[in-house]
Amino acid sequence: MADIKVNNNGPYVISGEISLVDADGNSFTKNDTFALCRCGHSTNKPFCDGSHSREGFESELKAE
Ligand code: FES
Repeated sequence: MADIKVNNNGPYVISGEISLVDADGNSFTKNDTFALCRCGHSTNKPFCDGSHSREGFESELKAE
């Protein structure tokens, strides 16, 4: 089972057995934990590179 955590003011952090593939089905990574950019500023998309902090990205979502 995999979990996707929506970090406040930051990336989606994925942990567990899951594969991330591109539009052709090729795998980006085989790591068990990785962070995906949701701010749009990463220079290493689809991964987070920490740019959200520098850019002042703000988003705090709560599950209901
Ligand atoms: S969420 Fe970290 S660089 Fe976009």
